[in-house]
Amino acid sequence: MRKILVTGGAGFIGSNFVRMALAEHPDCFVVNLDKLTYAGNLENLAGFENHSNHKFIKGDICDGSLIERIIDEFKIDSIINFAAETHVDRSITEPKIFIETNVAGTLTLLEAARDKKLNRFIQISTDEVYGALGPEGKFTENTPLSPNSPYSASKASADLLVRAFGHTWGVKYNITRCSNNYGPYQFPEKLIPLMLNNALNDKDLPVYGDGLQIRDWLYVYDHCTAVWKVLTETRPGEIYNIGGCNEKTNIDIVRLILNRLDKPESLIKHVTDRPGHDRRYAIDASKIIGQLKWRPSVSFEQGLNKTIEWYLASRKWLENVVSGDYQKYYDSMYKNR
Ligand code: NAD
Ligand code: TYD
Repeated sequence: MRKILVTGGAGFIGSNFVRMALAEHPDCFVVNLDKLTYAGNLENLAGFENHSNHKFIKGDICDGSLIERIIDEFKIDSIINFAAETHVDRSITEPKIFIETNVAGTLTLLEAARDKKLNRFIQISTDEVYGALGPEGKFTENTPLSPNSPYSASKASADLLVRAFGHTWGVKYNITRCSNNYGPYQFPEKLIPLMLNNALNDKDLPVYGDGLQIRDWLYVYDHCTAVWKVLTETRPGEIYNIGGCNEKTNIDIVRLILNRLDKPESLIKHVTDRPGHDRRYAIDASKIIGQLKWRPSVSFEQGLNKTIEWYLASRKWLENVVSGDYQKYYDSMYKNR
């Protein structure tokens, strides 16, 4: 049996990954380590929290002795590191925690992977480490790292540490760099769930600047199947870009959501742009498609429909995640924009 330590498994992508792994790969046991920050939520474990092949542990990836204890107790053979501070806007207002979790936390996990001689360490990174593109071209795995935000700088730093641990101590690693994910259980600070939540409540939809920035959208389930393939079908040391081949402007996404919910475009409000805003990301995913025969299972239209249906059917989840400090966060981020 494969014994995997998944970090950040109560967050958006991590919880979708654990759900997929337990449902589709009965030969794996998952220890799910999560600090339960504002972005982590036990409600995201719905349907598998008490699965016999799953153990949730509340804890911090910066806690080295905890990580070692988990590896020993559960005979862990691989780590997949989803845990991170993930929101670019928050990294602009409070960068320090991004260094603590994304850089120092990854270092702690790498030390454990090295000392316990694990079979594999998968670092979940982002296309944002490559910087921004103009109107043409796509990021390949060989594009130089050129991060622009404190978030992407912290993720690029972690990628370099992973590489260095492979080079210096032979840690068997892979790095995956995906584009913007969307789908069930995403916290409503990111574009799609934030716009959905606001539209459902007839609140303004705050579009940064002209809204013509471009992102490449990847349905979260498809990202998860790609990560599984990287874990199980690759040799160490390889880096894989994972993208949905769905480039869209932000304003087009917002219009699609309004249209689907039958809400007026008058809700759109152009607000002050994000400082240092990356104009365009686009992924060349030909390496993972060619080598691992990975394919996205849905088109963007299908994925967005599934996502909207999930949010409509999960109003209680949404109400719960926006209770507490969310309104304070929202006001501080958007009031004077
Ligand atoms: P998320 O913010 O939804 O979840 C992050 C999870 O990590 C939360 O459950 C949080 O509690 C946990 N966490 C944070 N600090 C921790 C710590 N110190 N110790 C243990 N757990 C901690 O993030 P996500 O969108 O699911 O992203 C997962 C990974 O994918 C991240 O590494 C992110 O950089 C990467 N990524 C995300 C996207 C995207 O579109 N969401 C795109 C590219 C890459
Ligand atoms: P986001 O979901 O924060 O992901 P990232 O910044 O990591 O790509 O933002 C996606 C795009 O949407 C980005 O260009 C910023 C833009 N955006 C808005 O226009 N308004 C918003 O309220 C948010 C959260 C994002």
